[in-house]
Amino acid sequence: MSADVFEKCFGFHAADELKQTGFYPYFHRIESQQGPEIIVNGSKKIVVCSNNYLGLANHPKVIESSVLAAKKYGTSCTGSRFLNGTNDLHEKVEKKFAKFVGKEESLLFTTGHHSNLGAISSLVGKGEVVVTDRLDHASIIDGCRLSFGEMTRFRHNDMSDLERQLSKHQGKGMLIVVDGVFSMEGDITNLPEISKLAKKYGARIFVDEAHSLGVLGKKGMGTSEYFNMQDDVDVIMATASKSLASIGGFIASNSKVVNYIKHNARSMIFTASLPPACVGAIDIALDLVIAEPERRIKLMQTASKIKEEFKAMGYNVNNSQSPIIPLTVGNDLVAFKMWRMLFDEGIFASPVVTPAVPEGQSIIRTSYMATHTDDHLNFILEKFRKVGKRLGVIA
Ligand SMILES: Cc1ncc(COP(=O)(O)O)c(C=O)c1O
Repeated sequence: MSADVFEKCFGFHAADELKQTGFYPYFHRIESQQGPEIIVNGSKKIVVCSNNYLGLANHPKVIESSVLAAKKYGTSCTGSRFLNGTNDLHEKVEKKFAKFVGKEESLLFTTGHHSNLGAISSLVGKGEVVVTDRLDHASIIDGCRLSFGEMTRFRHNDMSDLERQLSKHQGKGMLIVVDGVFSMEGDITNLPEISKLAKKYGARIFVDEAHSLGVLGKKGMGTSEYFNMQDDVDVIMATASKSLASIGGFIASNSKVVNYIKHNARSMIFTASLPPACVGAIDIALDLVIAEPERRIKLMQTASKIKEEFKAMGYNVNNSQSPIIPLTVGNDLVAFKMWRMLFDEGIFASPVVTPAVPEGQSIIRTSYMATHTDDHLNFILEKFRKVGKRLGVIA
């Protein structure tokens, strides 16, 4: 008898078992726009897990631009950027993005995931090394897996471990790839030290600004601006699916590097381009990121207020330095229970469990938007106090 590849599917029960407990937190059907308030299964929830950091995903001007783009260019480009899928709007936002982050050129992929896949795998060839932080985003890891180079990882934000890895491979072409703001932990990469080490060992630096673009830095340019080190970062990657209120991924660098990626990244060449409606949204969202710094200021004030309140309640907020505030709550079961109790109290949050976190250190990942009001924040704090106490997560 031959083996059946479907066997593992027939034997997969984990999700169904979790559903039976009532603690299944995934794939909930949202029936409204993505703001601080959403409708799930007919009832209102206050959201603490969105990446709509600046609140632009339902901004009237962003929606209007998206609609106008669809009307002008249609609903799809029906092909790859490489062949028939590039229009003047793609090129317009590429120029705008490059100027915004201070690089010569940029390239727009269909998603952030595609950007990391395509850029990392094309930049790191045979005999070369990609050096990643252990807590880098999965799309970075996927990009490394697709490359023909060697992959090595250093302990999270541990600069002596990074130096150990770099010294082991001295003399080879090396690319250090880090998240600017780490997506689950909410802490910031140690760019000043990374830059010193990169110079010492002749490595290039690639920063994924998914959670920092629009958020960090006076102008919202991200981690490199936060540290005033724009020239030290060789490649900037950013996704449009968070602060830029759309979907799509950018790579920005000098023209030669962008040109190389453009003609070698398989995830650019072998997939259809970003639909006009999404590009239209990015176009105006970028303008608003630049024109309305008050959104960023409000967001950071909210994050810092909420973090202090959580700490005062007795929550472990880890090393959050951004609008992502992860609360360590215990084992997976506690995280699932807490998610459910919060849900029943009107809060929509995200549990993060093993293997994404070490055993016993599951978290409720909370994140904030410039559009959360004081009433929303007070409601969130009240419910986390009530549920945390009931579960014994806080005293
Ligand atoms: C750090 C990081 N990089 C890349 C991505 C992928 O971006 P996208 O959702 O646009 O594919 C994400 C999204 O979750 C992310 O958090």
